[in-house]
Amino acid sequence: MAKARVQFICQNCGAAHQRWAGKCDSCGEWNTLVEEGTSGGIGSGPGSLKSARKGRPVTLTSLDGDIEDAPRIVSGIGELDRATGGGFVRGSALLIGGDPGIGKSTLLTQAAAALASRGHRVVYVSGEEAVAQIRLRAQRLGVASSPVELAAETNVEDILATIAEGKRPDLVIIDSIQTLWTDLADSAPGTVTQVRASSQAMIRYAKSTGAAVVLVGHVTKEGQIAGPRVVEHMVDGVLYFEGEGGHHFRILRTVKNRFGPTDEIGVFEMSDKGLREVANPSELFLGERHATAPGAAVFAAIEGTRPVLVEIQALVAASTLGTPRRAVVGWDSSRLSMILAVLEAHCGVRFAQHDVYLNVAGGYRISEPAADLAVASALVSSLTGLALPADCVYFGEISLSGAVRPVAHAQQRLKEAEKLGFGRAVLPSGSGELAGGIGAGSFQPTALADLVARIAGSRRSRAEETD
Ligand code: TYD
Ligand code: MG
Repeated sequence: MAKARVQFICQNCGAAHQRWAGKCDSCGEWNTLVEEGTSGGIGSGPGSLKSARKGRPVTLTSLDGDIEDAPRIVSGIGELDRATGGGFVRGSALLIGGDPGIGKSTLLTQAAAALASRGHRVVYVSGEEAVAQIRLRAQRLGVASSPVELAAETNVEDILATIAEGKRPDLVIIDSIQTLWTDLADSAPGTVTQVRASSQAMIRYAKSTGAAVVLVGHVTKEGQIAGPRVVEHMVDGVLYFEGEGGHHFRILRTVKNRFGPTDEIGVFEMSDKGLREVANPSELFLGERHATAPGAAVFAAIEGTRPVLVEIQALVAASTLGTPRRAVVGWDSSRLSMILAVLEAHCGVRFAQHDVYLNVAGGYRISEPAADLAVASALVSSLTGLALPADCVYFGEISLSGAVRPVAHAQQRLKEAEKLGFGRAVLPSGSGELAGGIGAGSFQPTALADLVARIAGSRRSRAEETD
């Protein structure tokens, strides 16, 4: 028999090394190499196959053909269905990642219960919690009576044998992928090899039976799904469940979807009775707004297909440090540096002697460049001590030349703002036809300097009013 070959696999990036080392060459992480055997396992290379097997021809088929059943299983939890692109797809595997304690098990328990009470066969396999714990959670969520089939098991072969009994399940939930282990790989549970082999077995099960499989994955503190990216490329969809510590709302974000749009979000609020859907996120993010303080600007964002209004808060304070502080929560810090540079270079606004703090209210995270205009307005407002109009929304991208550039979905953003009682908007010129209402009261600068002049000008007009 050939000697079992040993490899050292980086638990962070999955790179294989022949020799142990303190540091992984490919991702630079320390102490992440773990010895894993490769003899005969799924993850092993072709060289370790015991004997070359003669290939067996598979039947080739056409693109056009019958598709089994209705392709989607709708959970009835609107925000979840939105994030998955209209429900779980039969025969597909979905990975739900998130920090420990964020509410993945809660979300899936609720989804399982909702589906089971709609008559689907749902199997929930937990490798992390005992049955009693899951029951306790179900009681707390008020779904204990729904016919979800429950198991606490971690061995893939046992799980597959269990769910093969009886009617084919519509949905199988594995909580979590890091606890699974298969006989086919001989390394410890939680290692890359095990996670990969176990996921592969579950995905193969999904494809061959047409059941939808949901895999739960914990994210490491570096923001990677532990056991890590190796699963992401194998599954059909990846959703991240995120939330900011201390805030009660959670966002289910689609990062990969082979059957629907990405960049879609579902918004939930964690309550004492589980996750509650938030159908209108803008109300949530604007909830605690003190409109008259300087340094706050409302940004009309687009998340996937949905407009979301969030407040951007800036604090510009005189600095005693040689190098002033720039701190950002919820936005890109290099983008902030860029906006500060544009304000300095093209608008004559100086921040060199000031600390700058930027925060997106409610713990929300923005990735759109369309937030530039709102950020710049909040910064100028805080620096000058002049509050921005309370009923105004901002959106638009700023280029390095100081020009304000149009962004997509202007009409949709304005409509959402109008719905929430905003009467004015600052948006790029060239945003297309603006129908009535808020569009009529809008200010459309072509250059950032125009907006800065307008904000600074509000001091003069206010002074005149009091004269
Ligand atoms: P959980 O779903 O166990 O997180 P994960 O599976 O992502 O690790 O959720 C854990 C947290 O959610 C826990 O801190 C308690 C809180 N929680 C509530 O606030 N309300 C509830 O109804 C439930 C079930 C949990
Ligand atoms: Mg859990």
